[in-house]
Amino acid sequence: MPNDAPIVAKDPYLELRSDIGRKPPDVIEIWGERRGMDSTSRVVWAKVRVATNKNNVRKKIDFVEFMIAKVGSVSSLTMKDSLENIKMVDLSAMNTRLRTEIDDAIGQVIDSERFIGGKEVEKFCAELSDKLKIEGGENQEKPFVIPCANGTDALQIALMALGVGPGDEVITPAFTFISTVEVVALLGAKPVLVDVHSDTFNIDCKAVEAAITKKTKAIVPVHLFGQCADMETLMEISKRKNIPVVEDTAQSLMSIYCNGGGVSGRAGLLGTIGTTSFFPSKNLGCMGDGGAMFTFDKELAAAAHAISNHGGQRRYHHHLVGLNSRLDSIQAAILRVKLPHLDEFNLARQKAARIYDELLKDVEGISIPFREINSTHVFHQYTIKIHEGLGNDLRDDLSEGLKKDGIPTGIYYPMGIHQQPAYLSLGYKTDEFPNTNKLASTVLSLPMHTELTTLQQTRIVERLISWFTLLSK
Ligand SMILES: Cc1ncc(COP(=O)(O)O)c(C=O)c1O
Repeated sequence: MPNDAPIVAKDPYLELRSDIGRKPPDVIEIWGERRGMDSTSRVVWAKVRVATNKNNVRKKIDFVEFMIAKVGSVSSLTMKDSLENIKMVDLSAMNTRLRTEIDDAIGQVIDSERFIGGKEVEKFCAELSDKLKIEGGENQEKPFVIPCANGTDALQIALMALGVGPGDEVITPAFTFISTVEVVALLGAKPVLVDVHSDTFNIDCKAVEAAITKKTKAIVPVHLFGQCADMETLMEISKRKNIPVVEDTAQSLMSIYCNGGGVSGRAGLLGTIGTTSFFPSKNLGCMGDGGAMFTFDKELAAAAHAISNHGGQRRYHHHLVGLNSRLDSIQAAILRVKLPHLDEFNLARQKAARIYDELLKDVEGISIPFREINSTHVFHQYTIKIHEGLGNDLRDDLSEGLKKDGIPTGIYYPMGIHQQPAYLSLGYKTDEFPNTNKLASTVLSLPMHTELTTLQQTRIVERLISWFTLLSK
């Protein structure tokens, strides 16, 4: 049997002590722990590599149910290290795993001397287009993927391709990242803000319908935190009113939406045009800025492509007013290394979300993320809500308390767009967006990335509950 072959642990209550002359185990992944029977030991539920025969040959044990480790042993140190290094987003392990391939990919771009556009960008777009198809899905048509410099530009270019300009109105949620609204203002159009649902965090379609006027030129739903907005209703409104839909898919690449009739579509390909971001912390992130648009509409794709290249397809021929927004070849090469792993990255996020759910589901006063029945969730963020009525500053105090314990959290977003100083001139009253206001003071995003261990999550939740109990008294 090769050294690395998995073997089944005969004795799941394997006792490993650093003081009995045996080498301590290599901890591969720790899933959970509790205090041991005496004050110096911990019971750890982990996957380890351990010496299992006379020759001290290390063999992989896939699953050790309990391991008693003396404090001070390697495994305790590993545990300590992993607990002291909890990050909101941790890219280091992923980058280490893919480092050789990434280095090679970057090297090839350097050797090619083609830093803008070229075959890396073309290949990445073709591969992403392929990836966006749903295996076995009804629509096997390949979408056009148009690369650009970042997710904000993607939104702006999509709106420009649809002809949005001064005098037009564009409907967006009040609870979103600033880019969604910023680009509308930059084009001289008016952002028309509408409220979101307090359970899904996504745009309220009734409010969308009520906000439509003769000037409405586009609707921009944001598939916030990783799951799709109610696209069936939105597309019904879009068709009835003949208003295009630009889906902001920056946080939900690969999420799938299934309408009531059982027809599935990929986030970003349900509306007229979709946009995304490859910001490093996104589910598919590059090592700088990057973005893209997707659409099945050939003419729209051609317009978006031209706009991202100074408004022309041919050098020095400009039929549209455009901008310089291109995906660097090095970023495309890095994205090509990561793209084949995207499903695996999303699965790791979904697994981490399930573990958080399990650990938090019975905690009174805290809501775990609601799952939209028509959408899959790719968990760009795992965002809980701290119930109102438990004190105004509870959420912020909780975040501060966790920070003292070395546990980072995020508040996405601390206020609705209607309250942002730069957008006060839109003239909205604070109470026009009750759900957005409520969310802005109650949401808390917990660390979420592909490398979280169950031990880290157990620790995060244990500290969260401890602070919550203390602060909500
Ligand atoms: C919802 C949403 N839209 C747009 C963007 C903009 O993407 P980028 O940072 O690549 O410009 C982001 C980035 O965080 C986002 O979260």
